[in-house]
Amino acid sequence: MTTDNHKGLAGIVAGQTAISTVESSGSGLFYRGYAIKDLAEHASFEEVAYLLIYGELPNSKELDDYKTKLQSLRALPNALKIVMEQLPATTNPMDVLRTGCSVLGTLEPETDRGLTEEIANRLIATLPSMLLYWFRFHFHQNGTRIETQTDDNSIAGHFLHLLHGQAPHGLQQRAIDVSLILYAEHEFNASTFSARITTSTLSDIYSAICSAIGTLRGPLHGGANESAMQLISRFKDEADAERGIHEMLANKELIMGFGHRVYRNGDPRSAIIKAWSKKLANHHGGEMLFNISQRIEKIMFKEKKLFPNLDFYSASAYHYCGIPDNFFTPLFVISRTCGWSAHIIEQRRDNRLIRPSADYTGPAPRPYPSPHKSRQQQ
Ligand code: CMC
Repeated sequence: MTTDNHKGLAGIVAGQTAISTVESSGSGLFYRGYAIKDLAEHASFEEVAYLLIYGELPNSKELDDYKTKLQSLRALPNALKIVMEQLPATTNPMDVLRTGCSVLGTLEPETDRGLTEEIANRLIATLPSMLLYWFRFHFHQNGTRIETQTDDNSIAGHFLHLLHGQAPHGLQQRAIDVSLILYAEHEFNASTFSARITTSTLSDIYSAICSAIGTLRGPLHGGANESAMQLISRFKDEADAERGIHEMLANKELIMGFGHRVYRNGDPRSAIIKAWSKKLANHHGGEMLFNISQRIEKIMFKEKKLFPNLDFYSASAYHYCGIPDNFFTPLFVISRTCGWSAHIIEQRRDNRLIRPSADYTGPAPRPYPSPHKSRQQQ
């Protein structure tokens, strides 16, 4: 039986995992035993993707081969390109990815469970292609059909190159690479849990990833990075932010990018992305956005003892990399597909249908109205 204390399954252990652990004491996140701080400092996103999907870090040859493999998987089937062209320009980019994933599942269905890792790699490689093919077709010189291949063998560099139509700045490329590492995996968060639920019914990987994308889209989860950007860019300077945030708190509004279900003493990923945001602000100018963010952080701690989660400083970091606001959550999808895939593989290894129970709060059993009386008469 659940009680109100466990509303939203808070504090409930819903299964076992060997993929990552979140230290609720407030300072740690580990992917297969490696601290997030070390991975963000020393690894590449592809190295982390390999670690999550295959269970161990690759050696240098395995990493080179893996990067080459991902690079070779970027092309979109023609039928998928046609769907991307047919989607309206007004489509939410998260829906572009959810639809693209679903369409790929019809063109290259999962017929053999031994190929799950291969499909995961294909999705990681094609999600940027789907998004940017759709984007460039609709928004850059209307009707341009771009090649979804570049010489860059990193997803971060490739993404920026396709987005901007030119080789990326080194600092921006590494900032995106680090952000993809930070977003790659997070234990039993809502989207991962939805992927595991779908998997537990013996459904296919594409359906599980579509469930996860739909779950990530909401502003209480992945959508918070875009919502945080909307919040920050609303203020013209720090004093304006101070006034605005106090007003929002007085109205009991949520401040996007703050708080967390599990961490109580700070999100260990936040300091890492904050440092990158600062570096980018110093290098590319426009420090006001960073300063406003810092002021909001101070007020939130003073007034609510709440700290920024990964999404808050990701917003300004992405902005400094020239990424459109509505691409923030899609970038999260590209990265988290590694974590989702690792959980789908793990769920399948020791599956049991996930089907919790509910406390019923509806009417007591009652007779069905007599068929001779109309319901309005009753
Ligand atoms: N702004 C204002 N008040 C807040 C916020 C916030 N961002 N977060 C929590 N609170 C308040 C909340 O209203 C509650 O107040 P009260 O006790 O007076 O009703 C109190 O703090 C406790 O909230 P909680 O129990 O920690 O909330 P939760 O565990 O159900 O929700 C959360 C966690 C992340 C959904 C919530 O903090 C929130 O809505 N944050 C804003 C959205 C956000 O940034 N989401 C990203 C989450 S982390 C990365 C990811 O997964 O994408």
